[in-house]
Amino acid sequence: MTSANQDALKVQVGQQAVKYIDKLLTKDAVVGVGTGSTTNHFIDALARVKHKFDGVVSSSEASSQRLQGHGIQVFELNDVNELIVYVDGADEVNNQLQLIKGGGGAHTREKIIASCAKEFICIVDQSKLVPCLGEFPLPVEVIPMARSAVARRIVGLGGKPIYRPGFVTDNGNQILDVHGMQIDDPVSLERALNNIVGVVSNGLFGISPPSLLLIATPTGVETRRV
Ligand code: A5P
Repeated sequence: MTSANQDALKVQVGQQAVKYIDKLLTKDAVVGVGTGSTTNHFIDALARVKHKFDGVVSSSEASSQRLQGHGIQVFELNDVNELIVYVDGADEVNNQLQLIKGGGGAHTREKIIASCAKEFICIVDQSKLVPCLGEFPLPVEVIPMARSAVARRIVGLGGKPIYRPGFVTDNGNQILDVHGMQIDDPVSLERALNNIVGVVSNGLFGISPPSLLLIATPTGVETRRV
């Protein structure tokens, strides 16, 4: 598939997500918004219905800028009582709708916002579907002073952590991308990584997968629930 075709699929699924959430939108509603190229198309489509809801909570500075560029109000999570829905992309999705996220390094805020939303809708093109998570390197956000110590612990879990050079997260931290893991049990690995002191969060969404997956294919957008 050419990148132009893949981009067309991302546009399609972003627009479909807005159609899906349209029925949930009210004057007081706040929408959680993720990060990445697929989510950017969701943001662009959301702008067309911005009069129907109050505003958003955003998972990255990049998404906030795009949202504000469309005239959409961006709230701090601390100032919001309820998020009607969270919409975001993913780097890999398995058959249980468990995800690897964080290719853009925003997974900590993404995980926080997803955990606060009544529903998490994941939007992907079909290239993101995999039988087993782990071919895409698993991002782990670390407190900078703990990077090497965390890396040694990850080696002990069977992974090959590679420092993402020059990258600083919106939270001021660093990223280790963990290669070489065939992730048969995402929940156990997510917990094991969470238990390493110095890890802020990891890109596995196994404990709390999305409630709905929208998949763009050349023949239309498919819907999956667990
Ligand atoms: C951002 O940190 C990620 O979790 C993205 O949601 C993920 O990388 C998907 O991005 P694309 O839609 O650009 O593939």
